[in-house]
Amino acid sequence: MRSLRTGLSLAALVTGAALLFAAPAAHAADTPLRDLAAAKGKVVGTAVTGSKLTGSYGDIAGAQFGSLTPGNAMKWGTVEPTQGSFNWTEADQIVAFAQAHNQQVRGHTLVWHSQNPSWLTNGTWTSAQLSSLLQNHISTEVGRYKGEIAAWDVVNEPFNEDGTYRPTLWYNGLGANYIAQALTWAHAADPAAKLYINDYNVEGVNAKSTALYDLVKSLKTAGVPIDGVGLQAHLILGQVPAGLQQNIQRFADLGVDVAITELDVRMALPADSAELAQQKADFKSVVAACAAVTRCVNITVWGFTDSDSWVPGTFPGYGAATPYDENYVPKPAYYGIAEALGGTQSTAGCAATYSVTSQWNTGFTGQVTIACTGTALSSWNASWTYGAGQQITQAWNAVCTQSGAAVTCTNASYNGTVPDGGSVTFGFNASWSGSNPVPVVTLG
Ligand code: XIL
Repeated sequence: MRSLRTGLSLAALVTGAALLFAAPAAHAADTPLRDLAAAKGKVVGTAVTGSKLTGSYGDIAGAQFGSLTPGNAMKWGTVEPTQGSFNWTEADQIVAFAQAHNQQVRGHTLVWHSQNPSWLTNGTWTSAQLSSLLQNHISTEVGRYKGEIAAWDVVNEPFNEDGTYRPTLWYNGLGANYIAQALTWAHAADPAAKLYINDYNVEGVNAKSTALYDLVKSLKTAGVPIDGVGLQAHLILGQVPAGLQQNIQRFADLGVDVAITELDVRMALPADSAELAQQKADFKSVVAACAAVTRCVNITVWGFTDSDSWVPGTFPGYGAATPYDENYVPKPAYYGIAEALGGTQSTAGCAATYSVTSQWNTGFTGQVTIACTGTALSSWNASWTYGAGQQITQAWNAVCTQSGAAVTCTNASYNGTVPDGGSVTFGFNASWSGSNPVPVVTLG
C-alpha cells in the first residue's frame, strides 16, 4: 500500500513536470521535422552547443532533428587548445546525445583557416611539419569517432569570392594539394564516413561555386575520396539565390551528394511580422530546392533557436535568423521548413475575432479575441471601422480610442503577450442605433 502510494505521487509529479515542459512543444501533435524529412528521404539537422542539450533546448533538438552538427565542439581550437593535450568533452557529449536520440552526426570541421589553436597559427613550420600536423590531426579526430560520424566537413571555406584559393596556413604552406591529402587521410581513418568540402556564398551559380564545382570534378577524376559538397547558406532576408536548385543539381550530376549545412536567414533587428513572413518564404524555398534534388541529402540549420545563433555576435544589428525564437516558440520559418517537407501544419499566424456578447436598446457589449498558432505576439493592437455610428464608451483588458468611426485598441500593460497556441480577449461597451453590423478587425 505504501509503495503504491509512493508510486502514485511519483507519477503525479512526473506528469506535472511533463506538462511544464510541454509549453515549447505545443506542437507535439504536429509531425516533427525529422519525420517529415525522413518521409522524403532527407535528413533535417541543426548545429548545437553541447552544454545546452538539456531542458527545452535538448527536448527540441532531440525531437525535431535527425542530425546534429557540433557548432564549435569539433574544431581544432576546441579539441587541441594546447599541442598534444586534447579536450573531447563537448564533442563526446554531442555524439552521445545523438546516439541516444537516433540521430546522425555531421563532423565539423577538420581543415579550416579559422578557429585554430594559437600554438598552430603562431608556429613556424616547414611544409613537411605542416603536412604531418594536419595528417595527425585528421587521423586522431576522425579515428576517435570512427563509425560514429555520418559525414565530415573535411575542408571548410577553401575559396575566395572570385574563385581563387583562399591564402590560408594550409594553402600557403602546402599548395592546393592539401585538399586532396586531407580527404585521403580522412578516408583512411574512417572509410564509411561521407567526406565533404563546405563553403559559403556557393549557393547560387557564381565564380566561387564554379571554382568549387571544377575542384570536385577534378578530385573525382583523380580518384580522390570526395562524397559531397556543403552549401552553408548563411543567407540574408529576401536573398535566396535564384539558381539554388540548378546549382545543387549540377553538383549532384557530378556524382556527389549535396547538403545545406549551415542554413540561417538574418535580418535587421527588430524583426517585424512582414520580415518573419519573408523569412518563412526563404526557408521554404531553400528546403524545397534541396527536396527537389534526389542527391541533396541533408538540410541543417545553424542553430535552431535565436537564443543560440552566431548571427547577432557576428553581424551587429542583425539576428532573428533561426526557426525558433529565443523562447523556443516556433517562428513562421519553422512552418516554412515543415511545408517544404510536405507538412500540413496550420500556417502560423494570429487572428482577431470580434463578437457582440449582449445587446440592448441603446447599447451593447462586445469582445475581441486574438489567437495565435505557430507564432506568438509580445504586443498587439486591433483596429476596425464602425459602419453604423457605433461609439465605444468603455473598454477593459485593452486601451481603446475612437476617432470618428475608427477604433484602435492596444494591449494593456499585462496582456501584450499572446503565446503560440494561446489567446487574449478584451471587452468593451458601446452605443448603437439603427443597426449594429460586425466590423472586420485588423491586427497590427
Ligand atoms: C561559427 C559558430 O557558430 C560561432 O559560435 C563561432 O564563434 C564562429 O563560428 N561558417 C562555419 C561555422 O563553417 O563553423 C561558423 O560557426 C559559421 C560560419
